[in-house]
Amino acid sequence: MRILWPTVNALLNLTSALLLTAGYRFIRRRRVRAHRACMLGAVTSSALFLLSYVLYHTFHGTTPFPKGGFIRILYFAILLSHTVLALIILPLVLLTLLRALRAEYPRHRQIARWTLPLWLYVSVTGVAIYVMLYHW
Ligand code: HEM
Repeated sequence: MRILWPTVNALLNLTSALLLTAGYRFIRRRRVRAHRACMLGAVTSSALFLLSYVLYHTFHGTTPFPKGGFIRILYFAILLSHTVLALIILPLVLLTLLRALRAEYPRHRQIARWTLPLWLYVSVTGVAIYVMLYHW
């Protein structure tokens, strides 16, 4: 049980990363409906992750990182950049989505070029943090 919940959270992050990648590939090929579906899916899995993450930490508190040395420095560097960027992407994702849903596509595209790589970084490092914490 102790590892099941974090595993579900990591899988939600992984799902977001895969949907973001697929969504980007679709829009490059002008497949707007498929792009829309993937991006709405990524928003959903990230929102579920956020909810589940907050609930998990409300019940379990924090998990200390057990290792020392270089791997510990790497872990905290990833954790810090992940946390800071996670706070930044929240309003960015909402604005990107809002512009798309209002059909303001040129403005959507402008901001999405920042949102997409940052969001991908946050999702992938979310999975990396889980692997480092529970499987190394
Ligand atoms: C928040 C989630 C979303 C993200 C991160 C995102 C990301 C992107 C990115 C990076 C591009 C530019 C692709 C390029 O450089 O060629 C783009 C373009 C586009 N997106 Fe999204 N998108 C999202 C949601 C949506 C939704 C819900 C729609 C609804 C239809 C949509 C419709 C479009 C369209 C039509 C374009 C082409 C705009 C143009 O070429 O002027 N996007 N999106």
